[in-house]
Parts: sequence; C-alpha cells; structure tokens
Amino acid sequence: MRHLINPLDFTVEELDKLFDLASDIEKNPEKYAKKCAGKKIATCFYEPSTRTRLSFETAMLNLGGSVIGFSDAGSSSASKGESVADTIRVISCFADICAMRHPKEGAATVAATHSRIPVINAGDGGHQHPTQTLTDMLTIRSMKGHLSGFTIGLCGDLKFGRTVHSLINALSRYDDIKFIFISPEELRIPDYIIEMLKDKGIPYKEVIKLEDTIGELDLLYMTRVQRERFFNEEDYVRLKDFYILDKAKLSLARKDMLVLHPLPRVNEISVEVDDDPRAAYFKQVQYGVYVRMALILTLLGIE
Ligand code: CP
Repeated sequence: MRHLINPLDFTVEELDKLFDLASDIEKNPEKYAKKCAGKKIATCFYEPSTRTRLSFETAMLNLGGSVIGFSDAGSSSASKGESVADTIRVISCFADICAMRHPKEGAATVAATHSRIPVINAGDGGHQHPTQTLTDMLTIRSMKGHLSGFTIGLCGDLKFGRTVHSLINALSRYDDIKFIFISPEELRIPDYIIEMLKDKGIPYKEVIKLEDTIGELDLLYMTRVQRERFFNEEDYVRLKDFYILDKAKLSLARKDMLVLHPLPRVNEISVEVDDDPRAAYFKQVQYGVYVRMALILTLLGIE
C-alpha cells in the first residue's frame, strides 16, 4: 500500500507515468468513467478548501466512485478531542482511499502510519501540498511540453507557502532549473530549502522587487499572503498587498511566460491579467482534476 505525503514519494519515472495517465484521461475521459465503480474516497478536511476537496471529489465521481467525508473539523469528532490516528482507523473501515487536509504539519504522516488505506496529503499546515504540485507540474508539462530547463520565479509568501515548498522539492529533480525567490524579508524562503538547493548545486537568487526580475522568467508562480498563517493581524495587513501583478508589470515579462497560482487569489493578481494568454491559473484547476484521477487510480492499483 502506498501513500502520497510528499512529492518526493514518487520517483521522476513514476511521475512521468502519472502525468501520461493524466493526459490520457484528459483526452479519453469515457475510458475511465467506471474504473472506480464501487470504490469510495473519504475527504477529511480540517481546514477550509474549495479546489482541493472538490477536485478530489470530482475526480472520484468522474471515475464512477463515490465520496464521503467532512469539510470542517467542527463537524467531525475532532471537535470532541478525537486524534488523527483514531480518525483514520475509523475512516479505514468506511473508504478505500483518503485525502486529508490538516492545519498541523505532519498530520498526514501520522494518518498514514495508522491507516489501512492509502492516505493523500491534501495540505499539512505550512509544510507540503503534493497534489497541488502534481497539478502545477501537469500544467507546465501540458502547456510547455517538458519540465526541465526553466527559470522559475516564486513570488509572495515563500515562508509559509506549502505549495511553494512542495514545488521546489519536486522541480529540483529536473535538469537545468533555476529558482528566483521574490519575497519581502519577513516571508523569505526557509533556510532548509536554501540548504537543499546548495547541496544539490541548483542555482537560485533572492530578490525583493518583482519588476527587477520578471523579464528573466519562463514561469512565474504567484502566491497569496496567507492571513491564517500569521500570528498577528498587523503584520498581515502590512504585507498582504506587497505584490500585485498587473498589466503594467506583465508588460515587462516574456511573451511566452506562464503565470501560475495555486489559488485562491486575493489581490496579488489583478483581474485585468485574467484575459492575458499567459494567465494559466484557471487552466491549472482543470489539470488538477485529471492528475487527481490519475493519482487515485495509481494508489488504488487500478490499471
Ligand atoms: N490550491 C488550494 O489548495 O486551494 P484550496 O485551499 O481551495 O483547496
């Protein structure tokens, strides 16, 4: 039995197979419409979500399976003090696979340790969000044709941004990748990621102004400053509008640069950018369904 807790749980070769499967699902959805008949996914979400939870549920329904779960810790027995370990033991009696989001780093790992069914980390605190990374990678691969040779700028909350941490981990295994980290001092990328890049000899630089570097980028990954990760409102208010990508800034970028964002967006991408052909963030959401369908099939061992 396999789980997905960290994007590195899959080898590059396994990811290639997964993305090939996701692309086939995109082209031939009818072939997959009954593959999970009789199977159930449990979506156990202790933190708010629109995309990830509904994307998993849509993925399972598209495969002919069914869905159980909760979308709020307050409506589950966590509110009575039940541990994640006990909850997953119970969920293992009901479902064939579980996608779990939790505000605490490591919660999905704890769940996997006590589970009798595959557990998918749907986001654990500020740590990892591997299925967002699979979504991001499938989007890049589908729109650019490959996953190597890119200069990628990651902009915004690089400290608490789990999507950023997962994506760097995953892309650091591909050739010729260069990272440019664009953040205010307070939201800098964590030191452990910098150490990992240094150990692997992967080039990176840190800058504060988006305008100074946007012209160098093949991919721009925008992120939201996350109110829920701040300890005080004052810091959040000071930093929340630090970056706003608008038409003027986008005019400094290459014509074939892609703008990605895990969403939800607040102010960091102006709505005037949405119609630009480089804006890929709503296409990302669609790719998220295909890759989650492929992941469910893979973890359940269904050909
Ligand atoms: N990208 C993402 O995780 O969005 P949700 O919080 O809406 O699931």
